Amino acid sequence: IYKWYRSGLNRWHGPGSTPDFQDIIEDRCYNYTQRIRPDSRSRNCQEIKQAFMSAFISKDPCKATKEDYRRLIDLADPTVPCNKRVLWSKTKELAREYAKLRGLVTLEDTLLGFLADGLHWCGEPGSPDLNTWSCPDWEKDCRTNYRSVFWKVLSERFAESACGTVQVLLNGSLENAFDEMSIFGRVEAPNLKPMVTLQVWLVHDPGKPPRDSCSGSSITKLKSILSERNVRFICRDNLRTRLPILSNIRRLRKQPCGLF
Ligand code: APR
Repeated sequence: IYKWYRSGLNRWHGPGSTPDFQDIIEDRCYNYTQRIRPDSRSRNCQEIKQAFMSAFISKDPCKATKEDYRRLIDLADPTVPCNKRVLWSKTKELAREYAKLRGLVTLEDTLLGFLADGLHWCGEPGSPDLNTWSCPDWEKDCRTNYRSVFWKVLSERFAESACGTVQVLLNGSLENAFDEMSIFGRVEAPNLKPMVTLQVWLVHDPGKPPRDSCSGSSITKLKSILSERNVRFICRDNLRTRLPILSNIRRLRKQPCGLF
């Protein structure tokens, strides 16, 4: 019976829920609300954790909806400034460093983004536990899994409420720095408000030759999506603008005057 039960839990193709998921959410919530952003001290971490868990526990892990996360989002709506946002695609670590150095914010600097950053979670119908064996993969199992829907909902809100200049770091070491199937491509770029300016920084991996540029076809596609929406567009290749690559940032940090 145990073998049969285990093979059921093991049937998905993505990593299982992060061990100690609940404790991590709780610890991160206190850390964020008490230390990182004390202006959010009034948030109730117990309630937030409960709302997160009840969004997916005991439910079919392939049937996530926006609605499932409504209560959680209402409890922890972000308060970060609308004109200081940084988006990313295949450049998360660099984008976070870049934002920090410039006093800007990524989604992972908002309470919910911070809580879930890098974690995996899913439940099992009829069970009060998380499935730590496997969770549905976006491509191989289902797109409407709880993790993907979570990031989609958060990203949509983050992008549609942005104002002024929004920056995005794209990976020019890939053939298509702008990937229409990524969250940035599917959800964020098409939800920017008219009159926002999108500043694209095309960054390259230090060891690899640049494979895409501001004049390449993927960025041209992005430009056309934005112009239909009346979003202004600026693109810079990092070689020209000297946007430092990740390995340089740590070195540059030690110098009083960075390149930004
Ligand atoms: N931690 C773990 N996984 C994440 C995170 C995160 N902080 N944010 C997004 N994800 C998931 C999503 O499912 C996403 O599809 O990992 C994938 C990251 O894939 P990439 O292709 O590197 O980037 P992209 O799909 O464009 O998503 C990044 O979405 O979350 C927003 O504001 C964020 O601009 C960023 C964009």
